[in-house]
Amino acid sequence: MRTTAAITGVFGYVPDFKLSNQVLETLVETNDAWITERTGIKERRILTGKDQGVSVMGIEAVKGLLKKRGIGADEIDLMIVATVTPDRMFPATANIICDAVGAKNAWGFDLMAACSGFLFALTTGAQFVESGKHKKVVVVGGDKMSSIVDYEDRTTCVIFGDGCGAVLLEPTTEGVGIMDSILRSDGSGCQHLHQKAGGSWHPPSERTVERKEHYIYQEGKAVFKFAVTNMADVSAEIMEKNSLTADDVAWLVPHQANKRIIDATANRMGLDGSKVMVNIEKYGNTTSGTIPLCLWEWEPRLKKGDNLILSAFGGGFTWGAVWLKWAYNS
Ligand code: UT7
Repeated sequence: MRTTAAITGVFGYVPDFKLSNQVLETLVETNDAWITERTGIKERRILTGKDQGVSVMGIEAVKGLLKKRGIGADEIDLMIVATVTPDRMFPATANIICDAVGAKNAWGFDLMAACSGFLFALTTGAQFVESGKHKKVVVVGGDKMSSIVDYEDRTTCVIFGDGCGAVLLEPTTEGVGIMDSILRSDGSGCQHLHQKAGGSWHPPSERTVERKEHYIYQEGKAVFKFAVTNMADVSAEIMEKNSLTADDVAWLVPHQANKRIIDATANRMGLDGSKVMVNIEKYGNTTSGTIPLCLWEWEPRLKKGDNLILSAFGGGFTWGAVWLKWAYNS
């Protein structure tokens, strides 16, 4: 049987501080009923304190993963970190995390695909395992969205939160692991969801700060339309391509952007709500963190051989779906 890349462990980290809808009501003109009905979110976690980058969460997630699997950091060959909120523009957050956990034999890089980042990174990492190049690849997905959210903008501040998850990829010949993926990008979607300044296009200046151009800019309604259609379509497409019926699928692991987008995706796949991982009410949209955080939370219920469809849509635009056969019983 061919060598595939299997997830052999997962760990997550969310900060302790909870930002509830009730507290947001005191910051912007919004209310718990609107947020709950339009998004499904009740609270989100925020990484507070000085000098706390996304790596703080990544380090905890990777340390937890290694401890749980009983693996030394020096055994890691490659670390890929999916994030749109790296500690710095450079060096890569992967370097910071590798150094902090003691992954001295690893190389690493950051990958930016917004809310689809984890799926892009997982698929990339899997290539190195399938090819035989590497035996242990750590894929981290996480974001400190609070660092780019404008807490005076009610259309975005209610949605996003901070969190991070990490998985270990290892080779297997047991017919489990990452079976297939469909990934897509469309740069014309940039106009609807982006961060205007801070990169080489508009480097930081007094003017960019004054104009709040370092925050997320999102045209919610436009993004919603693209997200609903594309996330549902790509999830159905990966099922059709691999002759999977709704009965064959044990779990949908959707990006947690909006409960309505998740429901539309599940409907299109013909899946009952009981097969859908949803924790948006607790964490909101943690961008690259949503999918590994779901896997972490549901891990005790997953069984070897379960068919999982991981699905996401995000800024870029980027979207995609991954078909994964779970590789172990907890
Ligand atoms: O994760 C990656 C990609 N991102 C997404 O997938 C997000 C996609 N978009 C969405 O999830 C939704 O569009 C939002 C949650 C952002 C907004 O929900 P919506 O149902 O599309 O609302 P809307 O933008 O159409 O606004 C409806 C109304 C507007 O008022 P009027 O013009 O009808 O009077 C908004 O001003 O709701 C108002 N509104 C709010 N009201 C209370 C917008 N934000 C809020 C708010 N609280 N926080």
